[in-house]
Order: sequence, then structure tokens, then C-alpha cells
Amino acid sequence: MESSSVDKLSALINELPKQPWYGADLYNWKGFWYRPHHLSSTMAASSNFQAKDDDVILTSSMKTGTTWMKAIIPTIMNPVGRTDDDSLDPLLKHHPNELIPSLEIQVYSVNPHPDLSNMVSPRLFRTHMAYPLLPESIKTSGCKIVYITRDPKDTFVSTCHFMNSVIAARGVEPWPMSEAFESFGKGVHTFGPFHDHVLGYWKESLKRPEKICFMRYEDMKKDPKGEVKKLACFLGRPFEKDQEVEKVVWRCSLERLKNLKMNQHGVDPWLGIDYKHYFRRGIVGIGRTTSLMR
Ligand code: A3P
Repeated sequence: MESSSVDKLSALINELPKQPWYGADLYNWKGFWYRPHHLSSTMAASSNFQAKDDDVILTSSMKTGTTWMKAIIPTIMNPVGRTDDDSLDPLLKHHPNELIPSLEIQVYSVNPHPDLSNMVSPRLFRTHMAYPLLPESIKTSGCKIVYITRDPKDTFVSTCHFMNSVIAARGVEPWPMSEAFESFGKGVHTFGPFHDHVLGYWKESLKRPEKICFMRYEDMKKDPKGEVKKLACFLGRPFEKDQEVEKVVWRCSLERLKNLKMNQHGVDPWLGIDYKHYFRRGIVGIGRTTSLMR
């Protein structure tokens, strides 16, 4: 970014409301909380991204099952995802983060006007942007949006584990759960407030169910085959045989992905976070138990 743009951004950031979160500061832009390094790329993506009618956009707040969807959507969309030959599965060599690029963390992170002309259609993207912040073209074009959410208590516990692992790798002490809980309750966490994030997509999905597929982590855990079938129909890629659905569900399962070499030892080059932190226990209802920190 040019130095004048950097100065303008710093001046803007300095005027935004600020709150501490896991050893760093979050800034509130247009009602939602951001780390400063995600803010400029979110602003760029929000104003500059041009969606195409056949794009698929995965959206979520954080720790709601996004990684599962990052695996499932490319597997549904890519014809090799349904073939019998497991050796062709891209998930063997790529963490799900690499299969569906993030607008704010990857695509717009270094250049506010990236050249996307070489991307093969249908293009797949993901974003943590809340509905009101989405680029206008995503809302108005024919592209499809898949939103995944989760019980807020489970989301909170998952966030604590993830963020404390991330900051521990940087030598920062864990943030006490009581403080993190208070912050989450006030809506202060990256991409939050959680409830505003969920409600924005929920309300829009009621108005336009053909545009937004609203999914819940709990439904996916209860009936993965049924949910994956529904999702494939929504994406215009229905399954012909039951074995195909079973294949997709198995390839994208937590048990399988967690144990792949790539996911045990790789590091996300955009965030510097170990890939293993994206896969933990995946339990429904953990936020209601007393043994939260296991
Ligand atoms: P837990 O921390 O409760 O185990 P996100 O991907 O949005 O960051 O969400 C992370 C949560 O999804 C973590 O939950 C993680 O274990 C779980 N998860 C990751 N991959 C999964 C998969 N393939 N199937 C089910 N859950 C998965």
C-alpha cells in the first residue's frame, strides 16, 4: 500500500472505538469488530470485489464450523470430490484454507485491486464479513451464499481454545476465560457481535432462500448426509448416488482431516497459525458443561 494510503488508514483506525482482545486491540468499523490488519483488506474487499453470477461465497462468524464447510464446498463443486479414487482428493495435500480463499485474509490482503482474471469459474471465496458489510455485488448478483453458524456457547469455548493456542505460540499468556466471556457477551470479538452477525444472514435467508443457504453446525453433526445433500442441491450439484454423499462426508470428516499429515504439521502462510489448531473436538453442547477447558 502507498504511504499516503497507510497514513489515511492509520488516521481512520485511530478514530474508531477500540477494545482489548486476546492481547491485541480490536477496532469497531460499521458496527463490527476487526483486528487492524484485517480492517484495510475488509474495506478494500467490501468496496472493490465484483462477484460473478456463478460464484459461491462461504460466510461465517469465527469458530462456527467454517473449516468443515471450507472442505465440503470445494469437494461438492469439484468433480473429483465424488470419484472413487481417494488419491485424487485435494484435501490430501491442501488444508481447507487453501481450497477456498478468504477475501479479507488472502485475496485483498496485499493489494486492494487484485487481478482475479485467471481464476477458473465457478469461483469459490469465503469471508467473515457481516451481511451489511458484504460487497454490493455479492448481494445483487446471482452468486450463492452459504452461511454456517453454531450455538454461541460452543462458539465461545471454541474461540477460547483457538485464540489461546494462537497467542501461546507467540509467547502471550492465555486470556482468562471470565474476561473473554464478558467480552463475548458484549459482542466484542473478531467479526462480532455474534448475534448481529447471525441475525443479518438469518433474516436475509428468510427473504431469499434461493440466495442464502443458512446452515447450523448442530444440524451438520446430527445428519451430515442429509445436510450435505441439501447443500449440494442448493449449489446446483445434486448427488446421483448415495455412495457419492457418503464419500464427501467421509473425506471432510473431522476424524480424517485432523489426522492428515498436512493438517498436523502445516502452517497457514497468511496468518502464521498452525493448521492443527483448526481441528479440535467438534463436540455439540460443550459450552453447557463445567469442563470447558478440556
Ligand atoms: P471445537 O473447537 O469445538 O472442537 P471454524 O472452522 O469456524 O474455525 O470452527 C472450528 C470448530 O470446528 C472447532 O470446534 C473444530 O474442531 C471444528 N471442526 C473443524 N473441522 C471440522 C470437521 N471437518 N468436522 C466437524 N467439525 C470440525
